[in-house]
Amino acid sequence: MYQLKINDLTIETFLSQYWQKKPLLIKQGFVDFVDPIDANELAGLAMEESIESRLITNHNDQWQAHQGPFEDFSLLTPTNSTLLVQAVDHWHNDAAQLLEPFRFIPNWRIDDLMISYSTPQGGVGPHLDQYDVFIVQGQGSRHWRVGLKDNNLKQFTKSKILLQVEQFDAVIDCILQPGDILYIPPGCPHEGYAVENAINYSIGFRAPNQQDLLSSFADHIIDTDSGQTRYCDANIAPRKSKGEVTKAEVNNIKALMKSLLEDEELFNQWLGTTLSQPKHEMDLAPLEDLISEEQLMHTLEHENIELERLGGTRAIYQLNNDDITLSINGENYLLHKADLAAVRALTDQLIVATNELYNLSPSEEFITLLTTLINQGIWFSAE
Ligand code: SIN
Ligand code: CO
Repeated sequence: MYQLKINDLTIETFLSQYWQKKPLLIKQGFVDFVDPIDANELAGLAMEESIESRLITNHNDQWQAHQGPFEDFSLLTPTNSTLLVQAVDHWHNDAAQLLEPFRFIPNWRIDDLMISYSTPQGGVGPHLDQYDVFIVQGQGSRHWRVGLKDNNLKQFTKSKILLQVEQFDAVIDCILQPGDILYIPPGCPHEGYAVENAINYSIGFRAPNQQDLLSSFADHIIDTDSGQTRYCDANIAPRKSKGEVTKAEVNNIKALMKSLLEDEELFNQWLGTTLSQPKHEMDLAPLEDLISEEQLMHTLEHENIELERLGGTRAIYQLNNDDITLSINGENYLLHKADLAAVRALTDQLIVATNELYNLSPSEEFITLLTTLINQGIWFSAE
């Protein structure tokens, strides 16, 4: 397990002074940092069809960007190149552990673990990200410059898929060593170039915008065939102008739309589905010999096995008036409030011991659900 230390700051101070406000250099955030993956394994992932990867080169100031999958790594030259692989937490369980120390930000805000391997002078160039990111330095070292958010900075596209930003003033200018971390809030310009072959881990966050939310809500309404109440005006009165849409009519239409957003059950179901949507399709290995509820109950009662959550899994819950909506990888499950502690053990811990679960007196419904999740391979025996 990685132990994070944010300089001498408490989590509360980091959140109130830096989170979404200003960048921070965290020297030795991970002491004695050990890389969970090496460059060869990363390259192996970048050869897979289902994994998103990019290779960027900057020879003689000419930026080139290539989309994976890659059949060979001739473009990954001894200098001026970077290989980037997205959502590695889905494919590499040891690397997925690097997300855990950052879960002081809730599960639903965490997006993925992106890993890059850069050769000397390699980088993606100066750019902005729309989301918060922690960049952990693994093996090697890299020279980073980070500026403050500046809405006047101009962005431009290089080599079609590479968006860069014009030169900026740096408030952090440093060479990251293994275990050092940069926190960069959304919109802060940054650039990093390897000093020697370097692996970097980017813990990225999600922050949906209104367009994302409303279009996803609209999809949910269509999928569930909801929202069929039609505009009506049984009390319409004669009026002077044929052309006018009156204020009252505008308000009635808004109220009709708002009433869907205010439908608590619909909203709750949609939110659970959308916020727990995994970054990629899950890489599931369902059990060959399925277990039964009785077998699981027996294990909880008599054996102590550690159950581990599969990398890439998104597990969140909403506390309702009468029950709990547990949402896992886009699926919602309703559970009784008495299962809150067991639900929290699943959502808040990467690994949960079966005797710990047993002591939380899970209901039959919880056991049935956990049996399904284990059979699907979403939780598995860590031994
Ligand atoms: C990288 O690791 O090369 C890119 C990380 C970032 O700037 O977001
Ligand atoms: Co970035």
